[in-house]
Amino acid sequence: VAVASNVVKRLEGKVALITGAANGIGESAAKMFTKHGANVLIADINLGKAQEVSKELGPNSSFVICDVTKEADVENAVNTAISRHGKLDVMFNNAGITFPPKFSIMDNDLSEFRKVIDVNLIGVFLGIKHAARVMVPGRSGSIINTASVASTIGGSAPHSYTSSKHAVVGLTKNAAVELGQHGIRVNCISPYFAATPMIMKALNLTEENLSSVYSNLKGAILRAEDVAESALFLASDESKYISGHNLVVDGGATV
Ligand code: NAI
Repeated sequence: VAVASNVVKRLEGKVALITGAANGIGESAAKMFTKHGANVLIADINLGKAQEVSKELGPNSSFVICDVTKEADVENAVNTAISRHGKLDVMFNNAGITFPPKFSIMDNDLSEFRKVIDVNLIGVFLGIKHAARVMVPGRSGSIINTASVASTIGGSAPHSYTSSKHAVVGLTKNAAVELGQHGIRVNCISPYFAATPMIMKALNLTEENLSSVYSNLKGAILRAEDVAESALFLASDESKYISGHNLVVDGGATV
């Protein structure tokens, strides 16, 4: 992600924790946030890749192993941000999963449905809970959750995924109302299809067939960076009066 040296650093001095930052949108946000002056803590289950990304980003980033479905892991990740940097300004609850679409509910597997809810919803709940614990005393902070265009429309993703992402919007609004009283903002972003490892695997995409598949979809071809840009905005003070919002990043595809 290229940021010209004369560009104002929009997150100077801030500390950000990003879940699912070893790949895709989270990785891109980690790169962008670091280039904009933040200290970034990468939290992911994929230790090898987290290590690799952190090494590439240099001294202003580090990593912690964290499964967002486990409360002790999320608590530890937040505590690690505090012990390494003394504060937490931005919590980006981005980790999420999906499975290849099985569009009939009659084919849906209970364990698969539970797994998606566990990562995509419970993971966000735990992230908000533990970020709030350390942000409330300082009366500031920005919490960003990754939802999806499947948070507002039906039929674009598996039932489990659509359910989890609708719930992320509800949780975002509830948390924004409560935490707004403590000076903390809570928003979510809702991307359309972006060419990340998650979507490439779920839709069986390759670099070769990508553009032909995308031409059958409405809207723009999103890259992880396009989504990370909106997270950067919500993390920065430029959005200081924006809270409880679901920022749809879809090039107009679902309007
Ligand atoms: P990705 O698969 O490229 O990256 C997700 C990262 O999350 C991976 O590094 C993975 O190891 C990590 N992860 C998975 N389960 C985890 C867990 N239990 N604890 C901690 N880390 C875990 O996925 P992508 O596409 O970057 O997705 C990021 C977010 O964006 C997800 O919430 C996804 O639902 C959402 N999203 C993605 C879209 C897309 O088209 N790529 C569209 C709309 C939303």
